[in-house]
Amino acid sequence: MSDLENPFQETLISRHRAEPCTVVIFGATGDLTNRKLIPAFYNIAACGDLPPQFKVVGFARRDKTDEVFRTELEAGNRKNSRQGHNEELWSSFSQCIHYHRSEFEDLDGYKSLRVLLDEFDKERGAPANRLFYLASAPEAFKSILEMLRAAGLNEGVGGKWARVVCEKPFGKDLASARALNHVVAETFEEKDTYRIDHYLGKETAQNIMVLRFANALFEPNWNSRYIDHVQITCAENLGMEGGRGGYYDTAGALRDMVQNHLFQLLSLVAMEPPTDLSADSVRDEKVKVIRALRPLIGPEAVGKNVIRAQYTAGSVDGVPRVGYRQEDRVNPQSNTEPYVALRLFIDTWRWQGVPFYIRVGKQLPKKATEISVHFKKPPQVPFATNNLIKNSENTLVIRIQPDEGIALRILCKQPGQAMNMQQVKMDFRYSSSFGKASPEAYERLLLDAMAGDATLFARRDEVENAWKFIDELEKAWHKTDNPPPMREYPAGSWGPKEADDLLRQDGREWRLL
Ligand code: BG6
Repeated sequence: MSDLENPFQETLISRHRAEPCTVVIFGATGDLTNRKLIPAFYNIAACGDLPPQFKVVGFARRDKTDEVFRTELEAGNRKNSRQGHNEELWSSFSQCIHYHRSEFEDLDGYKSLRVLLDEFDKERGAPANRLFYLASAPEAFKSILEMLRAAGLNEGVGGKWARVVCEKPFGKDLASARALNHVVAETFEEKDTYRIDHYLGKETAQNIMVLRFANALFEPNWNSRYIDHVQITCAENLGMEGGRGGYYDTAGALRDMVQNHLFQLLSLVAMEPPTDLSADSVRDEKVKVIRALRPLIGPEAVGKNVIRAQYTAGSVDGVPRVGYRQEDRVNPQSNTEPYVALRLFIDTWRWQGVPFYIRVGKQLPKKATEISVHFKKPPQVPFATNNLIKNSENTLVIRIQPDEGIALRILCKQPGQAMNMQQVKMDFRYSSSFGKASPEAYERLLLDAMAGDATLFARRDEVENAWKFIDELEKAWHKTDNPPPMREYPAGSWGPKEADDLLRQDGREWRLL
């Protein structure tokens, strides 16, 4: 095929370097700025990809000078920068960092922000693009958006654009997500709205589309005729460290991880090929997957297909851990789940009858996210079946993190006289194949937002359809007289035994990680 015939080509070569830009981070004294956003900008600078005349302004309530703010961020960068911390680079990069103190509800603070941004433009000799990043507590999003509008900051100046990036959580249910989408839409057009899901910025998640749509080998088999089932596991070996318990206890695994990150991975695995790589073509296909999820409604359906659980005291890596209800800032009678496992079906032609098993949990034995695609067994195996080892199906494992890569498990003959079989692994590792670390998700996403590429951001309908599914499911837990029970697992184990039963009932097992 020539380049001209390749529908993906135009988008691939048209990724351009972003133009001069000022980024304003709301809630800039929070953990995200220190741990992720500034190290991401620093690493973008280290790669030479920062737009020229770049500025970043931290907007927050606490009183501090530019200098103090820079010093705090320097400490964060030393700890969190992917490519290490270079004094010389930091000292030039940090000059683009500024601080602006204001309450989120105070219009005067936005008017003075506008004066500051205009001054930057004067220094540059031309207006620059403006990116407003909402990294505050979500309760403040509405006020910030209203004030941006009232101060006229939602309009670009001199033909330049103004965009908004919204951090998660984007709402806590369908009603709140819709209300937030409404305020966002009053302030910015959808094309200028970037809802972050940092899983989409992970190199390995982006590779799912390439694996599926650029290789003739997999796509013909990527359907219910050849695939027995799919598993998606997102395990974490941490609990409620860093004071997260307060937020987390209002969310739980289903809202914190499944509604966004896990559904995004699921969509990438299950979507139809997009006609091109434009943001809307890709997102059109992803949202169809979420819309086709078979709803789980009522205690019976939910009890049969969803297992929720809390960890009890245990130990991870030999370190003792308290139970979920004993965690700092968690309600001792909490009814929130730090673990959930689901059996899902996607009602489309391609996926009819193929279960997608998803599990996500805190305080599991290790941190690992992977997708495994389990293929059906051959119709007839002409070797002595008693030699067939357990779990002998071909499995394609996509390791999202850590040890990023892809493995294919196939059966081979063991050397020797007998026709004994053994499962072996063909393994691709990013680290050895490319010899360099992949960029952090935030680096990619910030560059994309500045370059105007919304492909890796969630669209309004994606977010709302995902909440619709989650809301219906959650009613069975919180709005019925006979909710399915909360299960338990010791910290440091792979989850409750009922989650194992979920697969065992279907004659399957979770893949060992
Ligand atoms: C966040 C969740 O979105 O993702 C956290 O709020 C979770 O609870 C985190 O720990 C996991 O992200 P990652 O990139 O470390 O897998």
